Amino acid sequence: IPVDAFDLVIFGGTGDLAKRKILPGLYRRFWAGQMPAESRIIGAARADLDDAGFRKLVADAIDEFVSQDKRDEAMIAQFLERISYVSIDATGTGGWDQLKAMMRSGVVRAFYFSVAPALFGAIAERLSSNGIADSESRIVVEKPFGRDLASAQALNATLAAHFAERQIYRIDHYLGKETVQNLMAVRFANILFEPIWKAQYIDHVQITVAETVGVEGRGAYYDKSGAMRDMVQNHMMQLLCLIAMEPPYHFDPNAVRDEKLKVIRALDPVAPQDIVRGQYLAGGGQGGYIEHSENPASRTESYIAMKVHISNWRWAGTPFYLRTGKRMRARASEIAIVFKEPPHSIFDHASGWRENQLVIRLQPNEGMNLMVMIKEPGPGGMRLVQVPLDMSFADALGEEGADIPDAYERLIMDVIRGNQTLFMRGDEVEAAWAWADPIIEGWEGRGEKPQGYDPGSSGPDDALMLMHRDGRRWREIR
Ligand code: BG6
Repeated sequence: IPVDAFDLVIFGGTGDLAKRKILPGLYRRFWAGQMPAESRIIGAARADLDDAGFRKLVADAIDEFVSQDKRDEAMIAQFLERISYVSIDATGTGGWDQLKAMMRSGVVRAFYFSVAPALFGAIAERLSSNGIADSESRIVVEKPFGRDLASAQALNATLAAHFAERQIYRIDHYLGKETVQNLMAVRFANILFEPIWKAQYIDHVQITVAETVGVEGRGAYYDKSGAMRDMVQNHMMQLLCLIAMEPPYHFDPNAVRDEKLKVIRALDPVAPQDIVRGQYLAGGGQGGYIEHSENPASRTESYIAMKVHISNWRWAGTPFYLRTGKRMRARASEIAIVFKEPPHSIFDHASGWRENQLVIRLQPNEGMNLMVMIKEPGPGGMRLVQVPLDMSFADALGEEGADIPDAYERLIMDVIRGNQTLFMRGDEVEAAWAWADPIIEGWEGRGEKPQGYDPGSSGPDDALMLMHRDGRRWREIR
């Protein structure tokens, strides 16, 4: 379904995110017929480029990041016609008059801040004082949204000075992933799961986001961040919220976000013994974290595992184990809901019983897997065996399931539609920092160093212990 025609200005239009995600994503939406022909995309950055120069950059980005089957020359040419550029000084005066002159009335105006957060304030102020943005315009802001509660509050206040909350779209690209949205469909469009979606039936939940990449090339940013700020406070927190939240009364932006906020507020502080931090070592012919971060004394974690408790009626007593790391054995993100034992077993446990699990594979090989017990075939008596009821999107949905749009495509179209459901509200971000801050301050105060782990492994040994000591184990990363 096509969205309304728009003018989208991308600040930081020549940057890495624009090249890798935003511009190729917009092209794919154009290719799919979702971006109306009257729409325009305006790159805005410091570089001294003209329209032709920026179009060349966009064409190169399409070449590199759009799959062959969607790269149609005529289509690309039509897309490029809709692209222009303005060289702008975010903290000065240059370029703002030109930008204003480029804006049209009667179309949706959106401004994407794909720049360092330090520039958010200057850009917001200039958009409003120059009359470029109006009360219906939307702004899109990228992570990192602050590095602690105080900086997030300051950012929120800066944006709020010029834009209303309903105009602000804080991106967490995990919310744009198909499978992440599917969490809500699975929970709230089926009667099957919700009755047992609670501590009474669920032993624990495991959320894993494992990556094979290291931090090479972004060491300077990452070293000030670490896995906790880079992945847990935002992406993992959003996953946890979608699993743990109460059913919203409607699939409505504020109804959904209200429920997520309640989960964040119900999170307990995390005890030091429930946290394992790791840093990847050199290996396999590649440098370790220390070399990539260029800080030989770095105590920043590239891996974190933690046990989190949600103190509310639904979840009291059921821990959520989170882990995320770089340079791990495989790129594999999944959520596993591990159920309890049946209250009474008529079978002998020794005969092969294992717990039911609902595994939601976020990426790659998006799909769902329900592990159930059946009788092992054969005449050997009642022996049990665990088998998967396995659903892969690609198999179940054919072409549509195999061709899952990138998170950014979905999210940018939602901005144009004016739908904030998959964006973080200011209070949500602040609540997540309010939870994360004391945890980070805790290990910084204790001067803790992360434990080394081998690249290609499943993380530090202590992370295994985190589960073992509770009589549980992580699912294998594959
Ligand atoms: C980003 C983090 O937000 O998410 C990166 O800054 C991380 O460090 C990335 O690699 C992971 O995203 P995805 O979509 O590849 O799982």
